[in-house]
Amino acid sequence: TYVVTDACILCKYTDCVEVCPVDCFYEGENFLAIKPDECIDCGVCEPECPVDAIKPDTEDPDGKWTELNARLSEMWPNITRAKPALPDADNYAEVDGKLDKLSE
Ligand code: SF4
Ligand code: F3S
Repeated sequence: TYVVTDACILCKYTDCVEVCPVDCFYEGENFLAIKPDECIDCGVCEPECPVDAIKPDTEDPDGKWTELNARLSEMWPNITRAKPALPDADNYAEVDGKLDKLSE
């Protein structure tokens, strides 16, 4: 599976959802999550994200992001069409370590 990491938080550009062939993105207030059971590992979303938030789970050795994506995608509604990024997206694009700003 691929997973969304904290670079997405407070940005949510949503370019990723337009290309997913199985529509497995789920939307929270300031973050998106991929449902691991539905992701077919095609990888097409990864280069679409302007802030490189999407990673293969091979880059998540301790499973932290996979677990977070699994849990949040169960709680949140599906999103299949792109929409405008969050208002401060460009200001947060370069900020590291945004996990404490995640709205669940
Ligand atoms: Fe969707 Fe493919 Fe990205 Fe998985 S890797 S979330 S199936 S676009
Ligand atoms: Fe987030 Fe990047 Fe998609 S910022 S919404 S993972 S395009």
